[in-house]
Amino acid sequence: MAHLFEPFKLREVTFRNRIAMSPMCQYSSTNGFANDWHLVHLASRAVGGAGLIITEAAAVEPRGRITPQDLGIWSDDHIEYLAKIVGLIHNFGAVAGIQLAHAGRKASTAKPSRGGKVLDESQEGWRPIVSSSAIAFSKDSPIPEALSLAGIQQVIQAFVEATQRSLQAGFKVIEIHAAHGYLLHQFLSPLVNQRQDNYGGSFENRTRLLREVVTAVREVWPQTHPLFVRISATDWIDKGWDIEQSVVLSRELKSLGVDLIDCSSGAIIPGINIPVKPGYQTQFAQRIRQDSDIATGAVGLITSPEQADKIIRNGVADIVLLGRELLRNPYWPHVAAKQLGYEKHWPVQYDRAWL
Ligand SMILES: Cc1cc2nc3c(=O)[nH]c(=O)nc-3n(C[C@H](O)[C@H](O)[C@H](O)COP(=O)(O)O)c2cc1C
Repeated sequence: MAHLFEPFKLREVTFRNRIAMSPMCQYSSTNGFANDWHLVHLASRAVGGAGLIITEAAAVEPRGRITPQDLGIWSDDHIEYLAKIVGLIHNFGAVAGIQLAHAGRKASTAKPSRGGKVLDESQEGWRPIVSSSAIAFSKDSPIPEALSLAGIQQVIQAFVEATQRSLQAGFKVIEIHAAHGYLLHQFLSPLVNQRQDNYGGSFENRTRLLREVVTAVREVWPQTHPLFVRISATDWIDKGWDIEQSVVLSRELKSLGVDLIDCSSGAIIPGINIPVKPGYQTQFAQRIRQDSDIATGAVGLITSPEQADKIIRNGVADIVLLGRELLRNPYWPHVAAKQLGYEKHWPVQYDRAWL
């Protein structure tokens, strides 16, 4: 039976344990560039013992940023500093992954510490923003432009070029962000996607863009390297995207070369009541793992070592992704190993921590 500290292999990449750092925006970039903050933030979690470190959402094009301070990978100039971070993560025994993202109609907002409100062009914001359909996210949001067919091709191309840059930077895992109400989710969910063409309406049409992005990314991402997709497994509301569609989609993504589904949920429209409690999303990882026959990641309010270990031991998921708990404690994996009685994990330099 697998456990939290058992290594995990996908394609030719081996993770030293089943603990991943979940992607978390730092809102600390200028013009999309990574900097010393990202280096210390990400490398610390590698020293802290996680098996996989996934960067925050990196925008594949400038208009796909959530805030002006988002990380980006739309230019070759972004590669150099990212490569430095990747080198450190790998030196410290973790695997470096990057989340590739496009915010769609949720773009052009202030970072949370500045209130998170919509930014117009006089305030560092940008127009147009784009989506599947010309429907605003909230009453304060601008109406996005519905992507034309040529615009869709440009988005796919942006994901492809971001993939090529990720490879040059040395990343071993790519996660495509198709969750949390961002652009790819805006195509998946019937709550937003009202298109009349081949990209809207039926399940097949609504999933087309994600399938095309995955196919195009897989063509340039080496066969040795794993590809993840993060989905919102449910919109938590009737007539929205749901777990049944997620199961079918995950099966199809597997056949296109996706290796793991990172099972999050929600955030497609404001004001939905989500029954948040410890491990509230793990049910989706379990269901997809079972019924779509693909590796899954469980995420969301996973905080205790026993809880995380049980998720792996019970076959609920293949990895756990920790977000806020790893912000609070970069050394969580070491402490968890100690508490659960697994072999010493702590870096030798820190041996005396236990004395
Ligand atoms: C500060 C912060 C930034 C986040 N940024 C991202 C992101 O860039 N991409 C993403 O998919 N999820 C993002 N999330 C969601 C987390 O990855 C994670 O799914 C969520 O926090 C639930 O896990 P947790 O309870 O362990 O924190 C963010 C969460 C936080 C707290």
